[in-house]
Parts: sequence; structure tokens; C-alpha cells
Amino acid sequence: MRPAKDFFRPLAVGAPTPVTEIPARPSRAIHFFDPSNAKMAAKVPQMVGTVDVLLGNLEDAVKADNKEAARAGLVKIAQETDFGPTQLWTRINALDSPWVLDDLTTLVAEIGDKLDVIMVPKVQGAEDIHYVDRLLAQLEAKAGLERPILVHAILETARGVANIEEICGASPRMQGLSLGPADLAADRRMKTTRVGGGHPGYLVRQDANPDQPEAHRDVFQQDLWHYTISRMVDACAMHGIYPYYGPFGDIADVVACEDQFRNAFLLGCVGTWSLHPKQIEIANRVFAPSADEIKHARRVVAAMGDGTGAVMLDGKMEDDASLKQCMVMVELAEQLAAIDPQLKAQYDAITIED
Ligand code: GLV
Ligand code: MG
Repeated sequence: MRPAKDFFRPLAVGAPTPVTEIPARPSRAIHFFDPSNAKMAAKVPQMVGTVDVLLGNLEDAVKADNKEAARAGLVKIAQETDFGPTQLWTRINALDSPWVLDDLTTLVAEIGDKLDVIMVPKVQGAEDIHYVDRLLAQLEAKAGLERPILVHAILETARGVANIEEICGASPRMQGLSLGPADLAADRRMKTTRVGGGHPGYLVRQDANPDQPEAHRDVFQQDLWHYTISRMVDACAMHGIYPYYGPFGDIADVVACEDQFRNAFLLGCVGTWSLHPKQIEIANRVFAPSADEIKHARRVVAAMGDGTGAVMLDGKMEDDASLKQCMVMVELAEQLAAIDPQLKAQYDAITIED
């Protein structure tokens, strides 16, 4: 066990001091690109400012023969691009792969000052985070970096889910968790072959009518990911870090994608992955409170005065606790308005007097 007093000490001489709080930077969409794909890479500079996070993917979906080209491509893009308000993340290869050591040593040395977050796939337990934590400190010291690179774990193994709290608390670098529904389904031996989203077989059926046992009975599809996302939200909130939905593979089904993203938003996630530009628009819309929600939240804040006691508003009881719920929305709106002029205009136009 590491004593509390050592938790925020650098893990290597000369490494930057760890952060004591993870900044709440908007990250509604984490847009994945393959840096070995020249066509995709060429589009990256134009996407700056249109998406909260651009992520150079080195892991799954990049062919084994292209791993080195992807790593080199990411270095080149990062060196040549001014990312302005957009965060740059990467997903490195798995810790048991032959590529990960070169991923880390190359990326930290070459573009460590540009990288905000490193996403680590297939995290099984705190020991995986400890390994990355120490190695990053050594590499940061060597590269002379002034701020620590943060770490994000993908939850995509049964053991990772079982160890979720210790993963979130394993290092002050821990920024958040994403759901990895494809690998997680395989690891758990779930019987869905979809990448994220629901399944028509996972349902609850309306009771039979005893007088008409053959009559139609409605079915209600359930969310396969509800349990895992709920666990992620609690573990992240407990540790002051951020939960995200992951990939939604059916790019054409924008309706189901939006539903799945919205469920995650309502449960407490701050963002999601985007695998196609059209998912950025969905995520930006879903992971921001609507003008109506902000109007309601501001009315509650105004009606609650010093924030204690209870009031009736539109026939509904509001009190200290519902004020806190509203403050979650108001604070999120302020963070988003600071980087998104369109949203700022929408929120600024809200009046609460009527
Ligand atoms: C993502 O990496 C997944 O496995 O779903
Ligand atoms: Mg995966």
C-alpha cells in the first residue's frame, strides 16, 4: 500500500508533480482516427475546433502491419498540428502486445507536450495502471515535460469490471474510464456480436392476459450495458474522474446510437467515442443539457434563494437536493459554453422570468 502522503509525489526524479484534481474539460465526443490511414490523417487538422477530443488510435482496428506507420503518423500529425482548444489523446496498444513499449517511449519523447490523455486498453487491475504510471513518470522526466500526461482505462475485461474501484484509484493520473463493449462482451462470453448498443433478444415481455393467453404481448427491449455503465459511473464519481460510453458500431443507425448515448448521459457519463464524423454531431447534442433543461435548472436556482429549505415550482417540490441536481446541469452548461459559441448563444438566450 502506498501511504497517502506519497500519493502525489512524482514517481521518478524530475517528473512533473501529479495533479490533485482532474480538470473537467469538455469531452463530449472522443473522435477516433487511424494515423496510418493517409486520407483520415489529412482530415485531422480541419477537425480541430469541431470536436472536443481527437484520438489517434494505435490499437484494435489498426492492422498489425500498420502499427508502426500508425505510431509514426501520429507523431507527425501531432508535431504539425496546432490543436487549439481540442484535446489530443491516443489509444496505445495493449500492455501484453509487442508494440506498447515503443508506443509509450516514442510518443512521450516526441509529442509528450501535446498529448493530454493516454487511453490504455484491456486494463485488468491496479497493477496495469501502476506499470504505466511509473513508466510515464520516467519518460516524462527524460523528456523534460512540465505537466503529467493523464491516463484513461478502457473497461473491457471481466476482471477489469471486478477491479473497477481499484483501477480508478490506482494513480492521480487516472482521468476516466470508457466502456469497451466489444472486448467486454467477448471476455464475458456474452452472446451478442454487436459493437455496443442493445440486442432484440434481451427483453422483458408483458404478462399474458389469462382470458386471452394467445393475444399479443408487448415486449420491452432492455439495455445490455446498464449494469456496467452504472458501475463505471459510481466508481468514477467516487474517485473524481470521468465515465464515458464507448464505441457504437452501427454507424448507419443514428437513432439507436443517439438513444444509447442519451442513456449514458442520463446515467452520469460525460461523453462517448465517435467512430464516424456523424457521431460527433450526435454526441455534441446529447452530452450537453438542452436549453429547456437549463431554463428549468436556473429557475430552481433562483427560486431556492440561499439554497436551503423547500419551495413549490409548477406544482413540484424542490429542495436542497434537487438544487444540487440542477447545479450539475448549470455547471456543465457553463463549461460547455466556454468552448462552444453556439451553445453559449443558446444558453444566453434563455429567460427565466415567464
Ligand atoms: C472497444 O475497444 C471495445 O472493445 O468495445
Ligand atoms: Mg476493445
